[in-house]
Amino acid sequence: MPGRVEGKVAFITGAGRGQGRSHALRLAQEGADIIAIDICHDVEGALPMATAEDLAETAKMVEALDRRIVTHQADVRDLDALKAAVDDGVEQLGRLDIVLASAGVAMMGGRADKMKLNSWTATVDINLTGVWNTARAAIPHLIAGGRGGSIVLTSSVGGERAMPGMSHYVSAKHGVIGVMRSLAVELGEHNIRVNSVLPTNVNTPMFMNEGLFKMYRPDLENPGPDDIKPIASMMHVLPIGWVEPVDVSNAILFLVCDESRYVTGIELPVDAGALLK
Ligand SMILES: NC(=O)c1ccc[n+]([C@@H]2O[C@H](COP(=O)([O-])OP(=O)(O)OC[C@H]3O[C@@H](n4cnc5c(N)ncnc54)[C@H](O)[C@@H]3O)[C@@H](O)[C@H]2O)c1
Repeated sequence: MPGRVEGKVAFITGAGRGQGRSHALRLAQEGADIIAIDICHDVEGALPMATAEDLAETAKMVEALDRRIVTHQADVRDLDALKAAVDDGVEQLGRLDIVLASAGVAMMGGRADKMKLNSWTATVDINLTGVWNTARAAIPHLIAGGRGGSIVLTSSVGGERAMPGMSHYVSAKHGVIGVMRSLAVELGEHNIRVNSVLPTNVNTPMFMNEGLFKMYRPDLENPGPDDIKPIASMMHVLPIGWVEPVDVSNAILFLVCDESRYVTGIELPVDAGALLK
């Protein structure tokens, strides 16, 4: 039986690990070839990023599914680098159908008057302008293909509601919704759909890290996932503390395959009901 995205090519940012890698694997399982990029070096003030080895591991995992993959190290803040990566990927793989802007960072926060300017600037540059750049690098290929396409921009529950101490992240993720709506209107005539996913906590290094465990449980010396679960669960309607990357990938798979052929301009929460509370 053919896969749900059989023969299509997907360009994915932040594919070295976490959700981006999961999207690459889920789409490859359903028949897509992949153009994958990641920054592969650290960003000052942010948690460690994926490495070149991580990106190579994503490539191995996709190839093990008998799909092709082209990888490049590129920073989503660098439009020329993104263009070069997509151009090369399309040349090698022959087409482009799907674009997933998953790359993002969570930088040190704090009340706005106390937040470091660098935290604000880097977060907006990567999480908002980087998403816009990703679309800009890919749009000419989607239009030239003449077959339509599907773009999914990763926002967050923070794209719809406030989180104290996170004005940089929340502003960028609200901005992603603005980019999504604008592009949906601009690209509709080409049969290119543009949507957004809004995950709650996801089991990736951005959420599962020592700093966050300590923020949730300052009363414990060495808190771990089990210690934060009851608190993390309180933000959800369903009794869980976080979702798995594949839960977001499955939502994205729906948005990029023909089952959603007339769905454009939506925000799809994968949030265990967080936005209801
Ligand atoms: N993990 C969560 O709890 C959570 C919740 C809601 C939304 N999100 C969003 O989901 C997306 C994916 O995050 P994740 O959970 O996979 O985290 P992650 O930290 O595991 O992965 C993020 C990836 O993006 C890459 N990246 C960061 N800056 C980059 C840049 N400038 N250029 C290219 N690549 C870059 C990193 O190297 C890493 O591989 C992000 O946009 C994040 O904001 C995450």
